[in-house]
Amino acid sequence: MSQMQAPQGAMKSVLHEQRAFPPHADFVAKTRIDAARLDAMRAEAAADPVGFWAELARKHLAWQTPFTQALDDSAAPNYRWFVDGRTNASVNCLDRHLGTRGDKPAIRFEGEGGDVRIWTYRELHAEVCRLANGLKSLGIAKGDRVVIYMPHSPEAVIAMQACARIGAIHSVVFGGFSSSSLRDRVIDAGARLVITADGGWRAGNIVELKKAVDEALSSGCEAVGKVIVFKRTAQAVGWKQGRDLWWHELLATQSAQCEPEWVEAEHPLFLLYTSGSTGKPKGVQHATGGYLLNATVTSLWVFDYQDSDVFWCTADVGWITGHSYVAYGPLSNGVTMMIYEGAPTVPDAGRFWKICQDHGVTIFYTAPTAIRALMKLGEEWPAKYDLSRLRLLGSVGEPINPEAWIWYHRVIGKEKLPIIDTWWQTETGAAMISPLPGAMPAKPGSCTQALPGIFVDVVDEAGVSIPSQEASGYLVITHPWPSMLRTVWGDNDRYVKTYFGQFADRQWTDEHGTRRMLYVAGDSVHRDADGYHWILGRVDDVLNVSGHRLGTMEVESALVSHPRVAEAAVVGRPHEVKGEAVFAFVVCKGPRPEGEEAASLAKELREHVGKQIGAIAKPDDVRFADNLPKTRSGKIMRRLLRSIAKGEEITQDISTLENPGIVAQLQGR
Ligand code: WT7
Repeated sequence: MSQMQAPQGAMKSVLHEQRAFPPHADFVAKTRIDAARLDAMRAEAAADPVGFWAELARKHLAWQTPFTQALDDSAAPNYRWFVDGRTNASVNCLDRHLGTRGDKPAIRFEGEGGDVRIWTYRELHAEVCRLANGLKSLGIAKGDRVVIYMPHSPEAVIAMQACARIGAIHSVVFGGFSSSSLRDRVIDAGARLVITADGGWRAGNIVELKKAVDEALSSGCEAVGKVIVFKRTAQAVGWKQGRDLWWHELLATQSAQCEPEWVEAEHPLFLLYTSGSTGKPKGVQHATGGYLLNATVTSLWVFDYQDSDVFWCTADVGWITGHSYVAYGPLSNGVTMMIYEGAPTVPDAGRFWKICQDHGVTIFYTAPTAIRALMKLGEEWPAKYDLSRLRLLGSVGEPINPEAWIWYHRVIGKEKLPIIDTWWQTETGAAMISPLPGAMPAKPGSCTQALPGIFVDVVDEAGVSIPSQEASGYLVITHPWPSMLRTVWGDNDRYVKTYFGQFADRQWTDEHGTRRMLYVAGDSVHRDADGYHWILGRVDDVLNVSGHRLGTMEVESALVSHPRVAEAAVVGRPHEVKGEAVFAFVVCKGPRPEGEEAASLAKELREHVGKQIGAIAKPDDVRFADNLPKTRSGKIMRRLLRSIAKGEEITQDISTLENPGIVAQLQGR
């Protein structure tokens, strides 16, 4: 990995945990997939990778028109799956359960204020149909884009499902994003309609979503004709006659039956914007059939669903995790899931554990950043609650440091529950590398091995597979899979370049006649002697702040849009709760601010970035300098800035710098 950039700011571990943790016998006795079954699945997938997925697609999804062709690779890397089949995601998630589980709770919801509401599959189906009919009454049809900007709530799921029901393409924008981020996404997607709420509850405050929508739509969003507003927080909101409609008024007159729009498997189900190393966030486009298949089977395999489970994935629907493991995967499998609206520390640090107790949560899936935050609050909080219904724990979003893993295992898992660490991305649509909890031992900090049907490899700088078992290099996925992104919305070149461009010369046709290309994940990885994978971090200029992806360039653009800023460079530094924090080096127009002035400008810049992007992007550190460290050709030496941000000794050769004298100032000396 000599040429490879060091991972940005991955948490350093002080605990060297070498143990492997096999699943407890009680768990193995009841598991859906044990070690022998896993071996058999892997063998089936290896013998016929495409046939493996085709069989699962027939078994786990309901088709209106069965497909005859599983994979079309003629335009690789624009792979297409189940091409001539027709299906509908909302039928798979709702209608097919009505006969057997109509009265089973689909969603158990708790608001931040403690309000509880339970939706059965039948009730959820009816509400989705009402909204779908409402959308149709507003002229929304197959292929139209609908932006959803909602609190984390059953209604957000209903909105997604209603779009899917009529073939409209949803694009959920996380409610924590600013009005200006929302506007960019509305424009890029060419949305015709926005579904929002007056507000949502977060840490005791109202997040004013409708207000942000009004700001976003104030310029450049001409295609948006209507805004549907769900009433949640009930404060007074601005209202544009003719454009804005209350959700409850629209739905009051709609029928609870809505014929689904049967769509081709490749019909886009949704767009979800995510950060890359260059340019604006890109609209990752997912296809109905393939996406739903992986969301469905990974839920079943990785979470080992049983009919009696209450599954809680804490991710907001604004992220891919909230798509695959809130809005689609659990419903497709007919389990009961938990949705909690608010902050983990309201009214106190025991909230998550109280929810687990009160709602009988059996499977709990969250992010390392949440585990670290809860760990810091003390063991007395989980100790107050009965967590005995829990049987499986999960982690996602970033590498989990062994300290957090061991705490999770000991304090929440009572040293008995398996922990699954799932590696995947917005682009992969569903978990790719993860243990199957009843089939293999876990190792703290490792996401273990690729799921059946997923083929990953570790390659060197040239894209050549590293032959030794123990290897470090670029993580690639070597075979297409059903839930892979189909393209970047409106920019297929960017899709091809970003994900398949780096090793484009390494394509081949395999023994089954499939055209293979290397999908470059953008992560560096270590594979150990047991074939377990350890994600080291991103190899590009993408940060992972509290499990959320953030492009350094986006933050830099936000900073330079402030009138005082001439130039900015953003890097990550390790942070004990967030994993990585945003560190900004800023050059001002005019003299470099110092003392009081520096402190107040730093504060102003933080707010400015919050307004431009959203609170998650606010820099933790802002350091002012007269200049940035540049080579004689004018390139900013980011690696040096990373070392400075981490407070490391400078080992790089700074003699090639145009301005070596700047280093001490950048170090804050
Ligand atoms: C990036 C993708 C997958 C949903 C949440 C994030 C990092 C994700 C893990 C994990 C180590 C992980 C990677 C990846 N990542 N899960 N279990 N172990 N790293 O989705 O926003 O698209 O970010 O998150 O760096 O590339 P995303």
